[in-house]
Amino acid sequence: NPIVITIDGPTASGKGTVAHRVAKHLGFQYLDSGALYRLTALLAIWRQVDLEDESAVAALARSLPCRFQHGHVLLDGQDVTDAVRAEAIGVAASRIAVLPAVRQALTDLQVSFRQPPGLVADGRDMGTVIFPDANLKIFLTASAEARAQRRYKQLIEKGIPANMEDLVKDLTERDARDSARATAPLKPAPDAQILDTSEMTADQAVQQVLEWYAN
Ligand code: CDP
Repeated sequence: NPIVITIDGPTASGKGTVAHRVAKHLGFQYLDSGALYRLTALLAIWRQVDLEDESAVAALARSLPCRFQHGHVLLDGQDVTDAVRAEAIGVAASRIAVLPAVRQALTDLQVSFRQPPGLVADGRDMGTVIFPDANLKIFLTASAEARAQRRYKQLIEKGIPANMEDLVKDLTERDARDSARATAPLKPAPDAQILDTSEMTADQAVQQVLEWYAN
């Protein structure tokens, strides 16, 4: 089986940046599993499917018409690279992510990213549910304040409107929902390395992960 490094953690903990850089450094595939939940939520909104209708949302997830190419994400042929990052879509994603049938529907797609020479998978349950046999498991955390600040900077840089007060609220709400749900709650795998990045640059976090991987 190809090598897998899992990087799980709460919203805006720096998972995406770190996972992406580690994958690039090692020449591995990269799976942004959160994007799949975001795409499912966006498609449900487009199709006016109720976000609480478990079987209808799961049906969308099961045959998600998405493609990842050259850093762009296409949904139903439309470029949704920026649209999918909107905070409102993050919140919608966390609502459909509580539905077990939706999580089940996205499992095979996630597992299919495990290709030679290896994979770096970023999400909430990569080390606990999707790749329990991963070669290295990381749980990234950071204080709520550090995370809100990072997310703010990210959104503004992309020209997406944001304000700190709403971000802290969304972040806290999303953390609570992700941690409290019955299926695949956000928590470190028992064999995960915990990395608190509140006081770290992305580069330092990447170095730490590569060091663990090398040893
Ligand atoms: O970028 P951010 O960390 O804010 O969110 P994301 O990783 O894109 O994930 C969006 C939402 O999808 C999360 O709040 C989770 O509720 C859900 N998710 C999940 O349940 N399991 C995953 N493996 C990835 C995301």
